Formats: sequence, C-alpha cells, structure tokens
Amino acid sequence: MTAKEIINKYIQFFEQRGHIMIQNSSLVPLNDPTTLFTSSGMQPLVPYLLGETHPQGSRLVNVQNCFRAQDIDEVGDNRHTTFFRMLGNWSLGDYFKTDQIPWFFEFLTRELNIDPKKLYVTVFKGFEDLELDHEAESIWEGLFESSGIDSRSHISYYGAEKNWWSRSGTPDKMPAGEPGGPSTEVFYDFGENLRIHEQSKFADENCHPNCDCGRFIEIGNSVFMAYKKQEDGRLAPLSKPNVDFGGGLERLLMAIENQQDVFRTSLFSPIISTIENVTAKKYEANSREMRIVLDHMLASVFITADGVIPSNKEQGYVLRRFLRRGFDNFYALGGESIVEVLDRIVDQYKVTDEKLLERYEHIKNTILEEDQKYRNTLREAKRFIAKKYKKIGDELLGVTEISADDAFILYTTHGLSPTQIKSLGYTFDLQAFATKMEEHSKNSRTASAGKFKGGLADHSEKTIMGHTATHLMHQAIRDILGDEVHQTGSNITSERVRFDFNFDRKLTDEEIKKIETIVNEKINENLPVHFEILPIEEAKKIGAIGLFEDKYAKDVKVYFIGGSNPYSKTHKRGQKDAVYSIEFCGGPHVDFTGILKEFKILKEESLGKSNRRIYATVA
Ligand code: SER
Repeated sequence: MTAKEIINKYIQFFEQRGHIMIQNSSLVPLNDPTTLFTSSGMQPLVPYLLGETHPQGSRLVNVQNCFRAQDIDEVGDNRHTTFFRMLGNWSLGDYFKTDQIPWFFEFLTRELNIDPKKLYVTVFKGFEDLELDHEAESIWEGLFESSGIDSRSHISYYGAEKNWWSRSGTPDKMPAGEPGGPSTEVFYDFGENLRIHEQSKFADENCHPNCDCGRFIEIGNSVFMAYKKQEDGRLAPLSKPNVDFGGGLERLLMAIENQQDVFRTSLFSPIISTIENVTAKKYEANSREMRIVLDHMLASVFITADGVIPSNKEQGYVLRRFLRRGFDNFYALGGESIVEVLDRIVDQYKVTDEKLLERYEHIKNTILEEDQKYRNTLREAKRFIAKKYKKIGDELLGVTEISADDAFILYTTHGLSPTQIKSLGYTFDLQAFATKMEEHSKNSRTASAGKFKGGLADHSEKTIMGHTATHLMHQAIRDILGDEVHQTGSNITSERVRFDFNFDRKLTDEEIKKIETIVNEKINENLPVHFEILPIEEAKKIGAIGLFEDKYAKDVKVYFIGGSNPYSKTHKRGQKDAVYSIEFCGGPHVDFTGILKEFKILKEESLGKSNRRIYATVA
C-alpha cells in the first residue's frame, strides 16, 4: 500500500462518517504567533477547538504537512523525521470517545489490515484532580476482547507526561486560554525480539509501549480536548468537548510494511538509493548521515515550497540551518551536487503534493543558491583563518588550533556553528567559546524572547482586542494606501500587534497618523462586530479581504465590523450604517470596537522587498 493509498482510504473512511475534508495549511502559520511552523494538524483549528463556529461544520478531516524543528537532534535514528504528514480528524463539540476509538481501531484493522494483536494502547491514568480515563479504558477493553485478545496485556496507563496533550505539554505548563485534554495513543509492536536500542536506558527494564527501546512505534493519538486553562490556573471543562486525532502517515507505512526503519519504507528507500548512488557510499555503513541528508532536504523542499527563503531571521533562519546541516552531511559523504536528491524527493512526493512540481524550479534554485553561498562562506572562513595565522593560500597548513575569539568571529560574522568550525578542521577552547556565547546572547536578548508567549492562540482579552485592531488597521491601510495593499502576515500577542503588508516604500509620518486616526475613529464609533458563514463566491462578491487559503472550501467564515447592512459596503467615514471591514477570519473578536479604547502605531519598518511591518498597541 502506498502513502497515497493510505491517504485516500483515510479521507474516504472519515468522509463516509460525515466529515468534510479541509485543506492542508501552509507550513508557515498565517495567523498564529505562537510558533514559526505548523507542527500538527490541530494548529490552524485552535479557535474552533475553543468554541468558534467552523464554516465547514463540526466533523473535519485532513492531511497536514508538519515540521518539528525541535526534533532536529533526534534525526539520525531509525524513526525520527522533522517533516511528516499528519492524518487528522476532528470533532468540534460533536462525537466523542465512543465513536472515535472504535473508528480508529476499525480503520487500522479493516482498512489497513493491521493485525489487532500488533496493537497496544495507552490510557490516561489521572493527574492531580483529574481521574483515570475509565471511559476510554472500557471502550478499548471491549474492542480487544471482541477480537479475542486479552485486553489486560494490551492496555497501559500513563500520567500527564505521556497521556495528556496540549500544545504546551502537561496541564501545569498550559498558559491561560490554552485547550487540552487526556489522550489515548495506539502503538504498533514490531515484536519482542526487536529492541534495537541496546544503549537505551530501558535496555534492562521490561519493555512497555512508551519505553522508547524501538520495539513499539506510536501510530495515532486521539486527544479528548475537553478543557481550557483559566486565568486562575484551574482547568475548566469546555462547553462542548472535542476530539483532536493525529496519526503519522510515515509511521502507518512502517506498520503496514512491518518495517522498523522508516528510511527503508517504500516512501523513503528510493531517496536513500539516490543518496547512495550520488555519494558512492552504502546506507548500512553511513545510515546516520544519509538519514540526516534525506530528512533535512525533504523538510527544506517543503519549507521552500511554502515561500520561505534562507535568511538570518525566523523561518528563513531555520531553513538555512537545516540546509547547511544537510549539506555538511552530504559533503562528508563525498556528495558533490544535491540536485539528484532533490529530484528524487519531488518524484516521490509529487503524487500527493502537486504544488512541488509547479514550484520546483524555484525550490531547486533557492536550495542551490544556498549551497553556493554556504560553500563561499566556508571558503572565506578558511581564508580568514589562514590570513590571521599568517599562512599562505587557502589552507591552514599544519595549524589546527585557533583561539576561542577567532572561533567566535567565525560564528558571528560567517554564521558557522561550533560543529561546522570543527568540521573545517579547527579546534578551539570550547569553554571559552561558551562563555563568549553567553555574554553575546545576554547582550542581544531582545523582545523576541517573549514572542512565543501568549498571542492570538491564548485568547486572552488583550489579544482578542489586538486581533480586532488588525482588521481595522488592515482596512485603514487600504483606505490610505490603496486597495492593492493587503495583509501578508500577522502576529498578535497580549502586548502588541504586529502586522505585515505588501508596500514598496516607507510610510510617511502623515500616512501613519492618518491610519492611526481612522482606527481610533472606528473605535470611538463603537461599531458592532459579527460574523456570518457565507458561500465563498458570495464572500468574494461582497469584497471580503484577508488571508484566505482554503481553495476547496465551499463555505467560509467572514467577520464584519460595523454596519446595519453588511452587504452595502462603503468606506465613507462617519457613515454609521455602512460596514467598515469585511474579512475572512476564524475569529475570535470583541463584540464592539469600543472595547479597544485606544490604538497606537509604535513603529513601521521594512521587511525587505515590497513588504512592510507595523507594530502597534491597543489599550
Ligand atoms: N494534536 C495531537 C498531536 O499532535 C493529535 O492531533 O499529536
């Protein structure tokens, strides 16, 4: 069974059970300031999991491209990848455990023909005031017993560390406004003789599904998202509990093919073969390096396809880091040109991700350009050291030890990591280097350290106010600068609003003042805010603006600010019965603009070619 066939079966299975398919979102989240990349299918759905109405209804299904940069150091073993596809299904206050658990079991055993004896599950055993999940336990007991399996040996119990899911982890780590809940996970068993990590701390213990010895692999996680963290630290039940299911496509393939090494599954093995061919090395003897090359190039292809280019900032910085780490391993294997590897990746993924073909020239050129830049950087770094140590030519003949100060210059001005400096053949005092790093990061620590706290996803009052302010600002910017100007991104925390838009010059002080004045006028007019779910064509006809990317959606959610008659849109100021802003949006928003009190633009800056950024606050 191919990855494509698994996807088709999955979507069909849930569509037959009343689910509507929603589009894969960009790997770069459009309106979520809490993270740089989309790392799970639920991420774009947070407002709806917190109770907002979703335009496609209460049963949703999709396949989401995900990237988890934080797993970079795990890559190299037999199962970790930073890029993967997540099969997701959601109940937004609709069905719950008695449907979700049997459905997933049925999907695995009937649709994918996985032997139920190979399945092991985990159930939440409780945490502080929260009780063991008896309902999930008894559903699993029934399913195993009806398949003739002794359920006691197939169900394990874990606390919040393993069987609680929120984006921030255990209940105590959840910020106010964050949804979460107990989960039940399904593992596939490769067999008791297949404990492959003899070095693991579990090597002498009895094996169990979560022990990470390699015998079991997690293939699906059903989160019963029934709680929301309160300002006072308590967990309050959501008025309608949700199901948030995520299953790793590549891992399902491992289970179906009973293949313990994900890089040897039918999806990845052709790419590994290409790496073997172009480097003239064997996978068996070089598995770690080849896995890193495959994973990092795969992630880079998809990140580049979603519009990121290597740079020293945010997503661009992560992309640069992944590419350069991938190149390091590729060069170490003796690789010269990465093109064939990129070709093969696109070849393997084009059946599920057609856009890779459309954007391939751009992807290839971007990656090859970075390859060239990196080679130049390495050459310059060598020259710098050679010159400094008074050697002639590019090579630092005979001298391998450099000072920590020089290593630090290579780090700050050439962008080389300590590992990269070492791989150039130089050693240096690591302790002294670390001290310099610490001083440096203390000095350069900026407000961006607070970037990941709060934000729209925390749904605090202040953040919601900021969200409504961005709609007003978006329209005001268009009033002043013209209708070709539109939002390209936003990032809203409880402290400030950040808003990006396409425009090719600096705004004048007068323009900034005018935008500020319009937004404050709209605040003073105390305009009502409401949403409607409309057929997409109608929404476009009435001039809805905003970042809207689900091209398959039939119905969309649209927010209106002002106006007794939302369909008579005029922008004439002072005309109170006309709607002021119409925007595609998931919400939430304040009910009346008067709640915002005062809007202030703090700063306007360039983001590079034809892109500007505004920072603002609302009081
Ligand atoms: N949100 C859960 C996860 O990422 C289930 O979708 O595992």
